[in-house]
Amino acid sequence: MSQNLQDYELAVAKSLEQAGWTVTLEAENSAYTFAAVKDKVKTAVKVYHWQPVVGIARIEQFKDFLDHNKSGFKQGYIVAANKATIAEAFSSEAIELAKKSQKKSFLSFHFKPFYLATPEELPPPPHRSLQFDEPPNIAVDTRHPGRGKKIYIGVFTSKGGVGKTTVSAHLAGAFALSGYNVDLIDIDPQQNLKILLSQGIFLKDGRATINVFSEPEFVEAHSDAEITIVDCSPDFDSNPPRMIKKFDYCLIPTTLSPLGINKNGHVITTTVEKIRSVNPDASLMVLINNHHADRTQMVGALKEKYQAIFAKLAARDAKFQFIDPDQCVIHFDKRLFYWGHQHFINEQDRVELAFSSMKGRNEPRDNFLALVNYLEKNTGTQPATESVHH
Ligand SMILES: Nc1ncnc2c1ncn2[C@@H]1O[C@H](COP(=O)(O)OP(=O)(O)OP(=O)(O)O)[C@@H](O)[C@H]1O
Ligand SMILES: [Mg+2]
Repeated sequence: MSQNLQDYELAVAKSLEQAGWTVTLEAENSAYTFAAVKDKVKTAVKVYHWQPVVGIARIEQFKDFLDHNKSGFKQGYIVAANKATIAEAFSSEAIELAKKSQKKSFLSFHFKPFYLATPEELPPPPHRSLQFDEPPNIAVDTRHPGRGKKIYIGVFTSKGGVGKTTVSAHLAGAFALSGYNVDLIDIDPQQNLKILLSQGIFLKDGRATINVFSEPEFVEAHSDAEITIVDCSPDFDSNPPRMIKKFDYCLIPTTLSPLGINKNGHVITTTVEKIRSVNPDASLMVLINNHHADRTQMVGALKEKYQAIFAKLAARDAKFQFIDPDQCVIHFDKRLFYWGHQHFINEQDRVELAFSSMKGRNEPRDNFLALVNYLEKNTGTQPATESVHH
């Protein structure tokens, strides 16, 4: 994947050039920003300009890339371009992992060392000393379009406890399993996601990461993620409008329950009105969560009743749709119900998604992968970077 570099990325490239490196600005994928060669050592360089510390998920993703790369990279640098010290820029787990990677062992044939750096604390050998007397001369390839437009998917219902946070996190997981880096923005003042997933998650199967930002921490231009998912507060007015305005799509989780028919119909109507008061263009999609996997007539009758309510909304709003639970639905699952409990019980720092499975099958994972599939098919949700470059 090629991309126009940001100023801060160019600045790092230039200082490496000044130090005698040969820099190639064309990266084959988003795991690194550019390549640099000195003394025949081909080095992958990844540059960050994030407000929060770079957590271990991104470091694991980089390590995985280095260890498996077929492009001849012998080592890597991860440079935080906006922090003065490594301790400020990276989490302690990230620093630990980098140190481990540098230890020489008989395994070092397979495992490539990588180094953390900031502009003040510059990368270690083979780089020796920085000299700034030569003017930098980096040819920037301008033929390539900029980073593709990010796709924003909001998750909002004006009712508490319907699964907004659960859906946000696991939808992000399903996109990451499908190979997309995902930013998850927690704009709910409760900051549940931010607390649970502060280090981010690296999904090895998709070779992609999820990183979680609070609203003030998130700077769109500094992120290379293709998909941005926004977990909202049920209290519409406490969600910053600047984020709601960005939604290309908004999922509206709700439940299909007999007692909820009239109430939920009302909740969805209010939800749509609130979103529309700020964002007239987003595609709105009602998603049934907490669904019970039985195919009795009761479910069929409920579905019809709900469909009748939603048909009225769809008649008024061309970009409103109800996702038929027979096509795509999130089932009630114990793993989702207990998701995050480790953190609250043991205060463990790292929480995994409810995607692990003993015998291969995992319903939450299958449901959310089906949702990604549904979004891709029914909305053309294709990260622009993919379609532009290939
Ligand atoms: N599909 C599911 N299966 C089982 N439990 C679920 C499912 N979806 C959500 N839950 C549970 O429902 C509860 C509420 O979920 P969650 O916190 O995601 O809702 P929310 O809409 O974000 O709530 P709030 O409005 O407070 O932000 C949690 O205990 C969660 O584990
Ligand atoms: Mg929530």
